[in-house]
Amino acid sequence: MSNPYLAARLPDQLPNDPMHWVLAWLTQAEEQVVRRNANAMAIITCGNDTRPAARMVLCKDFQADPGYLVFYTNYKSDKARQIQENPNVAVLFHWDQLGRQARMEGQAVRSPDAESDAYFATRDWGSQIGAWGSDQSAPLESRNALFAQVSKRALKLGVNVAKNLGSIIGSDHPVIPRPAHWGGFRVWPSQVELWIEGKDRIHDRARWQRSLQRQDDDSFIVGEWSGIRLQP
Ligand SMILES: Cc1cc2nc3c(=O)[nH]c(=O)nc-3n(C[C@H](O)[C@H](O)[C@H](O)COP(=O)(O)O)c2cc1C
Repeated sequence: MSNPYLAARLPDQLPNDPMHWVLAWLTQAEEQVVRRNANAMAIITCGNDTRPAARMVLCKDFQADPGYLVFYTNYKSDKARQIQENPNVAVLFHWDQLGRQARMEGQAVRSPDAESDAYFATRDWGSQIGAWGSDQSAPLESRNALFAQVSKRALKLGVNVAKNLGSIIGSDHPVIPRPAHWGGFRVWPSQVELWIEGKDRIHDRARWQRSLQRQDDDSFIVGEWSGIRLQP
């Protein structure tokens, strides 16, 4: 039987939960490798200066139930500072090849440390060193200054960068711990919009909303989704 979440149209009776649709779209885009980084999404943040900022990140986990997605970044970056000032964020996926867009608005909270540790351990060697080496979004004098900084910090971790960066095997590979300034954010949407491309610009569009009630540091008690169809 074909996957109902991959239907060419949203059913007349709107589904109860848009997150399963987004997950199916994301999974299909990744499986079909519709482009490099099919899990890339734009995340829009807005800090105290009230100026929205957008950039791409990679969606590394998507939990349709209870409904959140995860990306990883530097906790001292501009985006992290903006989230600290204002946890309201917007997320945007677009899979042009599949004629689909998914928009979300909600709240971002830091992932539990243990989850970030577990994900960090799966990253390749070079990326682990890179997380220690870069003060993401801080000004930089030159590319050479960056390499010097990366080498110096790597050496403190027992790694000779000139010899090891980019390689994943070797005899002198100490385990690299996750830096405290690097980890995940969970984005809990309170609003999701699905868009499916239609002929003659008569697209298929619907928006769902639910309540979010903060439960603890990284999770929310979520209400039922309620959907409404929108004109394209
Ligand atoms: C396809 C793509 C994927 C990216 N993935 C990430 C990511 O997962 N995490 C991250 O911190 N930056 C990622 N970046 C870099 C960000 O877009 C951005 O340059 C960086 O995070 C600094 O953003 P900020 O100064 O607004 O915090 C990615 C860039 C591209 C083009």
